[in-house]
Amino acid sequence: MPNLIATTFAAVDLDALAGFEGRIALVIAQDGKLDSGARRVNRLTKGAVARVIETGELEGASAGKVMTLTYPTGMAAQAIDILCLDRRPSVLDARAAGAGLGKAMGEGAALLIAESNTKIAQIVLGAAMRAYEFTPHKTKENDKSRSLTVMCAKPEEVAPEVATLMTIAEGSHMTRDLVNEPANVLTTTEFADRLKEMESLGLDVEILEEADLEKLGMRTLLCVGQGSDSPSKVVVMRWNGGEKDTAPLALVGKGVVFDTGGISLKPGAGMEDMTMDMGGAGVVSGVMRTLALRKAKANVVGLVGIVENMPSSNAVRPGDVIRSMKGDTVEVINTDAEGRLVLCDVMWYAQERFKPLGMIDLATLTGAIIVGLGHENAGVFSNNDALCDAFLKAAEAEGEGAWRMPLGKAYDDLLKSRIADMKNIGGRAAGSVTAAQFLQRFVKDETPWIHLDIAGVASVKSETRLAPVGATGWGVMALNRLVHDMFES
Ligand code: BES
Ligand code: MN
Ligand code: ZN
Repeated sequence: MPNLIATTFAAVDLDALAGFEGRIALVIAQDGKLDSGARRVNRLTKGAVARVIETGELEGASAGKVMTLTYPTGMAAQAIDILCLDRRPSVLDARAAGAGLGKAMGEGAALLIAESNTKIAQIVLGAAMRAYEFTPHKTKENDKSRSLTVMCAKPEEVAPEVATLMTIAEGSHMTRDLVNEPANVLTTTEFADRLKEMESLGLDVEILEEADLEKLGMRTLLCVGQGSDSPSKVVVMRWNGGEKDTAPLALVGKGVVFDTGGISLKPGAGMEDMTMDMGGAGVVSGVMRTLALRKAKANVVGLVGIVENMPSSNAVRPGDVIRSMKGDTVEVINTDAEGRLVLCDVMWYAQERFKPLGMIDLATLTGAIIVGLGHENAGVFSNNDALCDAFLKAAEAEGEGAWRMPLGKAYDDLLKSRIADMKNIGGRAAGSVTAAQFLQRFVKDETPWIHLDIAGVASVKSETRLAPVGATGWGVMALNRLVHDMFES
């Protein structure tokens, strides 16, 4: 993983500071009192650090603010980044401060001096999250080598803490890589291959091919991919780190590697963004990676439906009636409402095969959720208050925006079809809710279920707290925490 900065830990070595040639980050509390490392840097620079503090700009500044001194006299360093952060900060503030460093970090070596801070590992996680870049297709930037040395009071305690937290960065980065990847590279086959590679982490990864899906009766999923030359697939990833024979939590992801809309073709402007329409599957994959890397004591199964939605002479048409694996028939009014057709079969399969104790689906499902919630919150729909509250709590703790939306019979009625059991769209009103209602028809009464509409948060056009422009990895942290809260605490 080129995006994971090589990190080493050391005790504070004051004599090493003058000659260090990379960037030096100092964590300074709002009160402006300096630790020994910061004092030494201040002395070497003839008081430059103190002068920055005297400007008063750090007082009351929100965590994440960075003040940079470039090419300071008296030192070999390229720059000194002053990160403003309480000595006992909240987890989210510590990550935000780290993100300031992660963003400033270019190529080469960085040194973080964080002597008396209580959340050093979280600072490092924030830096690792924000330092992410997607460069495989930049011919000149592909080979950046970056390293971070953390100088702190108890390196032997911080190092293992960072190692555990880095599994979160690694899962998030996998999600981002998948979501950022163009559709000519991340074909359905390539996607499945990348998931298969996770077997080396101890995951059990099974790929269901079209013939298998046909046998299972997953016609609504298959009809979405039938216009594409790329074969549709369902990938099942199992992590059994919990007690034997206890039911798993099921995570289900929409993996449309490209959504043209099909015969109900999307307008040309902005269509290139539909490379991110596999975002739900991307998050499921990233969570499974994190769980495996940190050897979570939990049973979790991740299922992703991987298809490409293309127009062609054998594509599904508006008006076609398709039978789902469950047996219910769907009149396809709009071939661009394809995500629900993929999910409904995978969700049904997940319940039939695994009898999960809970099921959470993630999908870049509707443009309407962006109209409703923008890019700040994912839409949360649920048939179970306890599971829903647990998720909302986990999302809040991780700083990932999530907002509960309603379900109800009146919305469900909008899906009535003249000739089949249901239509695949409701109409203009409440587009995200009718999409969720459609999915709920494939949720068994006894299955606690959450649907997460991540169309607004999976990939964004301006940077967020912990991510540059592009894929965010939204949801990996919240779901990892939810698994922890449900099974490991
Ligand atoms: N993948 C889109 C939803 C989407 C839109 C994701 C914008 C990310 C950004 C989905 O398949 C779709 O096309 N939904 C339609 C549904 C409509 C036809 C009922 C939409 O939102 O317009
Ligand atoms: Mn669509
Ligand atoms: Zn779509």
